Amino acid sequence: MYLLFVLCYTLSSSYVPRWDGFALHEQYQRFFNQTHQVHLTTQPSTVPSTGIHYHQAHPRNYHFIMDNTEVCKTKNPFLVLMVPVAPHNVAARDAIRKTWANNSLVQGKVVLTLFMLGLPNRDNAEQLREKLKRENLQHNDLIQSDFMDTYRNLTIKTMVIMDWLATHCTTAAYAMKVDSDVFLNIDNLVTMLQKPDIPKQDYLTGMLLRNRPVVRSKNSKWYVPKEMYPDPIYPIYPQGMGYVFSNDLPEKFVEISKIIKPFYIEDAYIGMCLKKLGIPPTSPPEPSQFKYFSKYNRCKYSKTITYILRSAKQLVKYWTDVKKPGPPC
Ligand SMILES: *[C@@H]1O[C@H](CO)[C@@H](O)[C@H](O)[C@H]1NC(C)=O
Ligand SMILES: *[C@@H]1O[C@H](CO)[C@@H](O)[C@H](O)[C@H]1NC(C)=O
Repeated sequence: MYLLFVLCYTLSSSYVPRWDGFALHEQYQRFFNQTHQVHLTTQPSTVPSTGIHYHQAHPRNYHFIMDNTEVCKTKNPFLVLMVPVAPHNVAARDAIRKTWANNSLVQGKVVLTLFMLGLPNRDNAEQLREKLKRENLQHNDLIQSDFMDTYRNLTIKTMVIMDWLATHCTTAAYAMKVDSDVFLNIDNLVTMLQKPDIPKQDYLTGMLLRNRPVVRSKNSKWYVPKEMYPDPIYPIYPQGMGYVFSNDLPEKFVEISKIIKPFYIEDAYIGMCLKKLGIPPTSPPEPSQFKYFSKYNRCKYSKTITYILRSAKQLVKYWTDVKKPGPPC
């Protein structure tokens, strides 16, 4: 059973907030109804039928509640790590702050980690709002926007990340969208980005997925109806656990998203944006460095860039072990 799960997981592209359960079907239904609605009601009469604007995933429909406007100007990072995370998941944020975000200087380059949150959709929203404010006062690393933070809104979350980068952090050279349950070997990433043949523009890399069929089985977490995405195959796209890009791309994604119908598979949506922009993603110099899973092994973890983990605790444990003194291999 577990094997089957891993297999399905591996075959499908998965950016479910993996430590979190959501009532997917319910949310899907709402999203779908809404998409229909938006589609019908926001098509301005002046826009020709070939130029429908799909406003729902367009990030400039949402507003920042916390935006840490100054943080890029004062720190002037080379690389910005943008981590989508649920508002209540402070355990994941704290584990990241203690591990791959602990050092702001990596291989001589300034790296900044920020967390992207939507609005809490739970009962204690008011209390959580206060807590988040305090958390941000302490760390200055929360970006929050006013869309509902749900699994089915992950595409909006990604596009809001792009909007923040395009409007608040234009001087960074590179950025990465990286999930909160990832073991990120930041040293290896910065080393990779400094290789002379890594492009400075129109560059996106990660674990590339090719010819992935769109899941049409209604019982699947990754089910996407034809009405939402008609083609049977997704364009090439980077697995959502972590993809890295030159920081000229965010503005291009924000612009192009106006004409790409939203669907909630955020990484496949990025693939759609890339296709429309005519910018193919690039394989990483070492494709083996972007991987889903591996049983813990110090040597392997010291060479990777990403692996998906199962808990915040695992992140702290493995990180501490990988970074302890002494040769890992
Ligand atoms: C964070 O980094 C500092 C030095 O930059 C180090 O002394 C400290 O041990 C690190 N903290 C953790 C939890 O690894
Ligand atoms: C997505 O966010 C919007 C804006 O907050 C909200 O109206 C909608 O219900 C959310 N959709 C889902 C599927 O959660």
